[in-house]
Amino acid sequence: MIPNWVYIKDFKKHINETVEFRGWVWNKRSSGKIAFLQLRDGTGFIQGIAEKKDFDDETFENIRKIKMESSIILQGIIKKDERSPENVELHITSFKKIQEPIEDYPISKKEHGIDFLMENRHLWIRSRRQFHILKIRNEILKAIRDFYNQNDFTLIDTPIFTGSIGESAGNTFKLDYFDYGEVYLAQTGQLYLEAAAMSFGKVYNLGPTFRSEKSKTRRHLIEFWMNEAEVAFYKHENNIKLQESLVSFVIQRVLENASDDLKEIGRETNKLQKIQPPFERMTYTQAVDFLKKKGFEVEWGEDFGADEESVLASQFEKPLFVEKYPRKVKAFYMQPDENNPDVVLCDDLLAPEGYGEIIGASERIWEESVLIDRLKEFNLPLDQYQWYIDLRKFGSVPHSGFGLGVERTVAWICGLEHIREAIPFARTLYRVYP
Ligand code: 4AD
Repeated sequence: MIPNWVYIKDFKKHINETVEFRGWVWNKRSSGKIAFLQLRDGTGFIQGIAEKKDFDDETFENIRKIKMESSIILQGIIKKDERSPENVELHITSFKKIQEPIEDYPISKKEHGIDFLMENRHLWIRSRRQFHILKIRNEILKAIRDFYNQNDFTLIDTPIFTGSIGESAGNTFKLDYFDYGEVYLAQTGQLYLEAAAMSFGKVYNLGPTFRSEKSKTRRHLIEFWMNEAEVAFYKHENNIKLQESLVSFVIQRVLENASDDLKEIGRETNKLQKIQPPFERMTYTQAVDFLKKKGFEVEWGEDFGADEESVLASQFEKPLFVEKYPRKVKAFYMQPDENNPDVVLCDDLLAPEGYGEIIGASERIWEESVLIDRLKEFNLPLDQYQWYIDLRKFGSVPHSGFGLGVERTVAWICGLEHIREAIPFARTLYRVYP
């Protein structure tokens, strides 16, 4: 009888049973009489043990000499073993090779440079650290979806081709779209979510966005995933609360469901445990004063760079909302503050530990004439925005929303040095391969 195929994650439920294992050898060591295979199957990592006495000579030699990253099918008995990190081991009783690498596996235990690893990203994602980071990313994305489902939001998938520039015209990817002419890859789905909010009330999206930014920093990707939310009748204060609850929920979920992965990558969880509402708050004007006192040469009316954000956020253990920026440095759609029309009702949420902005948010302009004035101020073509202006004609209401950068959030939660490890296949200024 062929034993049941069991995944490593379920091994603990099958102690002393004979099972089938299907997966890969990621490392091995052996003495004369015993071979230790480090095994992985996509759900975990475990040690397999083969003893010479249980096999004919040829098979044992095949096991002993098996190359790294060979694919195999084994049968064996799951044994409890307190000494192994997983507390269980597989005592191998039968061994079948599916494919042994045709060449030596390029990624070894020695240190490799980052360019080499990125060039081999298709293989690097098999490495333990990368595996755990992408598992945490998976948990973060699951948590984001669950948050919206639990809070009665409707998922609205926004388009990737668009004629209406959603953010700055300076960093769009342009394409030729049949007879239509020039269109852009979405920098944001926000404008479409605003339309949907007038039908569904509370909406969100989750998808890739594109920015042709010539920045080669540790927090910029050319293609990154964004989660955006938009809610009809929400004002600035409601918007802040929503962002706070989402981020806290996501952190809580990761702590509950991915604490082993965090441990494997050496991320201390005590800092994450402190991420609970209410977050810190500061206005842009207060932030400028603070930065000046710290010796920064910033003037009211200028946007902050990564260094400024880092200094602002590192005063606190919790994320920091910097709100009410000058309208000149922010996007056309942001609602001016009625108490001071030089600033808009927006916020950037800065993550602690120097990770910088993870969310950009605002209340939106909801009156037609104010919007038209702003579009003109930004030299944007009114005809391309006619549908967006329409939304201000038919039962318009104040509304607010935000966009959370998924990879920036992953980088912060995992404590990564660079955003390129926060996405399976990063697109950066100099990389679209593999
Ligand atoms: O602040 P941004 O540009 O906001 C918007 O696009 C709004 N339309 C969102 C909305 O209100 N619906 O971008 C939102 C977030 C940033 O806070 C940052 O986390 C991330 O997207 N982001 C990037 N992440 C990686 N690489 C880049 N080049 C990024 N640009 C923005």
